[in-house]
Order: sequence, then structure tokens, then C-alpha cells
Amino acid sequence: MRSRVDGTIGPSTYIQRYPADTFGGFPLAGFPDTPTGYDFVCTFRWRTCSTRPSARDRRSIKIASDESPTSDLTTGMHSRQRRAVDPREFNVPVIVLSHRAPITFRDDSGVRRARRGAGGLVTALVGLAGQLNDAVWVCAATTDEDVVVAREFKDSTFHIDMTGEPRFTDANDSDALEIRLVEVDQAAHDDFYGVIANPMLWFVQHGLYDLTYSPNIGQRERDAFDHGYVTVNHVFADAVVREVEQRGGRALVMLHDYHFYLVADLVRKRCPDVVLSHFVHIPWPGPDAWRVLPPEMREQLLYGLLGNDVVAFHTERFARNFLLCAQELLGLPINLDKMTVEVGPRTVTARTYPISIDVDALIKTASSKAVRNRLDDLEQWLVADDAKLIVRVDRTDPSKNIVRGFLAFEKLLDDHPELVGKVRFLAFLQPSRLDVPEYAQYVADIGSVVARVNARHTKHGDAPIDLRLHEDFPTAVAAYSVCDVVMVNSLADGMNLVAKEAVSVSRRNAVLALSENTGAHEELGAFAVTLYPFDIQQQADALYEALTMAPTKRRELREAAAAIVRSNDVAKWLSFQLADLSEITGLWS
Ligand code: G6P
Repeated sequence: MRSRVDGTIGPSTYIQRYPADTFGGFPLAGFPDTPTGYDFVCTFRWRTCSTRPSARDRRSIKIASDESPTSDLTTGMHSRQRRAVDPREFNVPVIVLSHRAPITFRDDSGVRRARRGAGGLVTALVGLAGQLNDAVWVCAATTDEDVVVAREFKDSTFHIDMTGEPRFTDANDSDALEIRLVEVDQAAHDDFYGVIANPMLWFVQHGLYDLTYSPNIGQRERDAFDHGYVTVNHVFADAVVREVEQRGGRALVMLHDYHFYLVADLVRKRCPDVVLSHFVHIPWPGPDAWRVLPPEMREQLLYGLLGNDVVAFHTERFARNFLLCAQELLGLPINLDKMTVEVGPRTVTARTYPISIDVDALIKTASSKAVRNRLDDLEQWLVADDAKLIVRVDRTDPSKNIVRGFLAFEKLLDDHPELVGKVRFLAFLQPSRLDVPEYAQYVADIGSVVARVNARHTKHGDAPIDLRLHEDFPTAVAAYSVCDVVMVNSLADGMNLVAKEAVSVSRRNAVLALSENTGAHEELGAFAVTLYPFDIQQQADALYEALTMAPTKRRELREAAAAIVRSNDVAKWLSFQLADLSEITGLWS
């Protein structure tokens, strides 16, 4: 099949990404338009281009494809250049490190209860660790009962089974995950988590500071960095080193997120034969954003990360920003074609792997009894009132832009009074990080905007916003499957898995209203109504467009988005990383 990038032959059938060199070194160009009306759409990576090709150049690109569309359907960056490695055949020992544990314990009147750790990162890493033959997951003991468990298994690991309700198991269980829970001194952890990682690094990386007033960095913050962040990174580096040594000094160490930027360098110094990668799950802004931090802090963070062989991100933009930081803030030579930085004799590579979900597992959950029960309630309401449903699912994090989302909804009702009583906004908001003052204040702000909108627009006793401040995954999945619009309007978001979950289980062709500032927008933006997260009027108009979109268009967009998510699932996220790590480092072969 031959097709042109800008052909207008029929309805769009699929999306394809090609590596840059498919076109003989043609500068990487974007194809930003919506695919409607195209029979074949191709998007390109931006990585090495400094200027976009002209429309005439783009028109001249011809794409040859003899493969079946679905077999080659992918949005993974330069997927054709990449070998995928089957994790089950990967025989190198792997040590995974994240702050969040897959399991967390509490003492319920003398009975130990276990529950799954919160957040999308845990879901992804459970998939990652579960697929590997020999993996141990090092993570933090965060509850009192976690600490009791950590002490019981002091200096050793234990096994859990996460396939159903999380439970202890033994190493012979084929579903066993090996865990090392690490206890950290409470005061050091408070500074690490509550002063540096969550307020400071999270705020810098999501652009949340109102720079006129914050941050105010003083001795308190410097101490929290030196005796909290640095200390806790040393504690976890020690735990990783112990696991490496038990494996004869050779292992692949996969570090995760902003809690542990210093670990790689510490581990490399003590275990020179390891291969290290660090996945940054949140945005990485350009050098100017990092200038908010004192030079000694930002330089330590950067040099810590440069202890890795590969530093990985969800999007090309974040990876490029990272290299620019190394160049501008540390004066190191970088190569934006190869996406590398030279650190003395070593070369560190920045790579891109958009994280995803386990589609089959989610579909299984969507058809579970728990979800079906919740569906009945929602469907009754929808059918009875011929109503429409907007859904959002988030942690109560300022980066999620929840307050502006409700302001946009209020504007929608103001502009379209005929929708009052017809549209309900169901918001599942899981309280998060309430020990950080800005987060506690944000929950209060959410409460007050919801109270105002509901007071202004309640009709026949029905309030338009149904706010649920707790985690209820089955109801969230039920809501995904019957809603008309899913709203994701983050200010900044590394990826956002809600967008991927919702399009995968929607049964009413939900329209995705998706912030341009999410990593997910790079993959799914062409099949979403884009939201500009600071523009209330635009978001209100976009919600209206989504709610009133013609059924055929809704179906077309939703199916294309779901196909992308299915073809680029979490298994690919891992297998591409393993392939690259093997190729880049040789992994001792
Ligand atoms: C984000 C971060 C994760 C974090 C999660 C939940 O997804 O990338 O590292 O675990 O939020 O946040 P919490 O502070 O509750 O662990």
C-alpha cells in the first residue's frame, strides 16, 4: 500500500510512526493535524530537527507500507529501529527501586492487612517486575506496619503475590514478586519526602511555583536536602548495593522517579560492573526552571542522574530538556542527534519510552462483578435522565489542575444553560500528600469551588458535580466505561494513564478531553479534544465540543486512541528498555 502523508483518500484507518531515517535523514517533522479524512496518517519524531519542513516538503514525503496496519501499529518512538526483548527470556538479574511499594500493610486491631500501593507507577512496575525472571523490588516502608514487616525481614527479602488481593507467598509461586522493604529514619524521611521530593522537586518539575512568592529557600531547605534527601538516597543506595553484591556484583539496576536522583552515582562508585538506568516519570523542564534551585543542589541532582547509563523519560521533549540541563548547567558536551552527554570518559544516553497500561488486565477488571455492580447505578441515572456524564480521576495534586477544571465546567453551564440538569461531572479525587501544606490547601480549594458551582447550578435537587474524595477504582472503571467525556486538564503531567485507561474500556465512545501538557498528548492528542490548561474559556468550549460531538466522529477517535494504547502497552515499555540497555551497554556480553 502506498499513501501520502497528506492524502485525503478516505476515513482514517490507523496511525503509524516511522523512524527518522526511513526518509533518508529527512528532518523530523510533525504531522499535527487531526486524522479525520485521511486514510493514512504518519507522525514523525521531532528529535533532531531544528526547523520544521515546509508544507511542500511534507507533501513530498511518500510512505511505503506493505505490512498489515495492525501488526505494525505503534506509537513507540522510533519503534522500527528498536529490537524488543522478551522479558521472560531476559536472564540478567534486575534490581528495581521506587519509593512507593507495591504492597503496604496496616495493623487492624492486631490483624495485619495488606493493600496494593497507590498510583500508576506501582501498576506499571508490578507489570515490569512480574515479567522478569529474576527481579527484586527495593522500596520504602511508609506505614508503621510496613516498618514492623521491614524489621521482621531485616536484611532479607520476602515474596508477595499481587495477582488478586496482595498476600505473602513463597519464592516457588510463579507469580511471586521479591520485595525488600527499607526502613528510613522518620525525621530524615519527613525532610526527604515532605520538604524536598514532593514540594520542591515536584514543584520545579511541574512548574507549580508562583515565582513571585515561592520558593523561599533558606537554611531549613538546605538542611532538609543535606540531611533528608541526601541521607535517604544513601540509605536506598546501600540497600541496592547489598542486592547487587548478592548477585555477584553484576545486575541491571532500574531506578525510578524523582525521589532517587542521587542513587545511581552512589551505586556506580561501589559496584562498577552494574548497568544503571533511571526512569523519570514526571516532566523534565528546561535549564531555566532548574535555576530556581541553588547551584549546589541542582548540580548534585544532575551529577547523581549522570551516574546512569541511560536516563529515560516519557517524551522526547523531556529527554532533550535533560540534555540541555547537562549542557547549560554543568557545561558538559551533548549530542542531540545521538541524545547523549559525555561525562568524563563515560557516555550517558537519554531515551524515550512512553509508559502505558496492561490493557487485558484492565478489560478483565472492567468485566468484574465489582465493576458491574457499580455500573448498574451509573447507567440507571444516565438512562433515566437522558443525561451526559463527564468523568475525571486524579490524585488531589495541584499539577492536575482540578480547580480550573471545575471553573471550566461552571463556564460551560453558564454559557449553555440548557445543559444544567443534563450534564453531571463525576470526580474521583484521591487525597494525596496531605502532609504538604500546598496539597492540603488545594483540597480545601477544590471543596470551595465545587460548593459554589453546585450552589449555583443545582436543579430539581440534583447537584451537577458529584465529588468523591476517596479511592474507588471499580467505580472509576465503571465510570470510564459509560461516560461521555473524560477530562484530563493537567498543568503538566509526565504521562497520565487515566487517559489511556479510559479510552481502553469506554463502551459509549467517550471523548477524551486532554491537556496539551500531558505526555499522553504526544500519542493520543490527534484523537482527543485538546485542552489548554490555563484557558478556562477554551476548556469550557472544548467540553461543549466533546459533549456534542457526532457519534461517528466519537467512535472514530475513541477506536483509534484505543488501538494505539493496545499496540503500545506496558509490555512494550519494558521490552524496548531492555533491548536498548542490552544494546547500549552490552550487558556484559
Ligand atoms: C506520581 C509519582 C510516583 C508516586 C505517585 C503517588 O505518579 O510519579 O512516584 O508514587 O505519584 O504519589 P505518592 O507521593 O503518594 O507516592
